[in-house]
Amino acid sequence: MRTPFIAGNWKMYKTVAETVNFVKEFRALVKDIDGVDVVLAPPFTSVHAAVEAARNSNVAIAAQDMHWEAEGAFTGAISASMIREAGAEYVIIGHSERRTLFGETDATVNRKVGAALSAELVPIVCVGETLAEREANETFAVLDRQVQTGLEGLTPDQIAQIIVAYEPVWAIGTGRTATAGQAEEAHGHIRQQLQAGFSAEAAEACRLIYGGSVKPANTAELIAQPDVDGALVGGASLEIASFLEIVASTV
Ligand code: PGA
Repeated sequence: MRTPFIAGNWKMYKTVAETVNFVKEFRALVKDIDGVDVVLAPPFTSVHAAVEAARNSNVAIAAQDMHWEAEGAFTGAISASMIREAGAEYVIIGHSERRTLFGETDATVNRKVGAALSAELVPIVCVGETLAEREANETFAVLDRQVQTGLEGLTPDQIAQIIVAYEPVWAIGTGRTATAGQAEEAHGHIRQQLQAGFSAEAAEACRLIYGGSVKPANTAELIAQPDVDGALVGGASLEIASFLEIVASTV
C-alpha cells in the first residue's frame, strides 16, 4: 500500500517571514493527520527557515530545483548537498516551468535525479505533455521519452524511492484540471513503463502524483484512482485553508 503524498509547490511566492508564519500555523493543523506524507517546497531563500519551523512536525521540506554538480563556478545555482545541508528532504526536478522557461531537458533532469539521490534527497520528478502534444495524440510518446531519459541509469530500488509527478502542462495554473480518467490513464501508462524498464516491485512501490490545478474540490476524486498516489499542488498550496483541505481529503 502506497502512502499518499501531497506536496505544495510555492514557486516564486512567499518571503522568509511568510514561510515561517505559514509553517508554524500549518504544522499544528496537520499534527493529527496520519497516513499521508506532507511536503512544502518554498523558494530557496526560505528552505532553511521552513525546515527549522517544521522541525519535529509531520511536514517535510523540498527545494524546487537544483544543479547536478556538487559545487563549482555556476553562478546562481544551488547543489543537492547544499539543499540537504539546509535540511530539506526532497527536491522537485524537471518542473514544466523549468523546462519551458529555463531550458531544462530530459538529459539535465537525468543528471539532477542522480545527483539528488547521491545526496540523499528524494527527487520529485515532473513529466507531462503540452496541449499541442495531447491534441496530436503524442501524450504517451512524450511521457515515455521523459520517463526513459529522465530516469535512465536508476536502479529498481531507487525507482521505488522516488516520486514521479504527472503534470500535464495544459493543466498547470489554468484552472483546467485533468479529469480523473485522464490522470489515471497517464499514471497507469507511466507505471507500466516503470515495470517494463525497471521491475514490477519498483513500479508498484513508486508513488505517482498528479499536478495541474489541484483544488480541494477535485482532490478526493483524483486520489481515488488506483494509480494516483497524491498531488503536486501549486496555487492551492499558498493558502493554509485550501492546502489543509487537500491534505485532509486524502485520508
Ligand atoms: P497549479 O500548479 O496547482 O497552480 O496548477 C501545479 C504545479 O505547477 O506544480
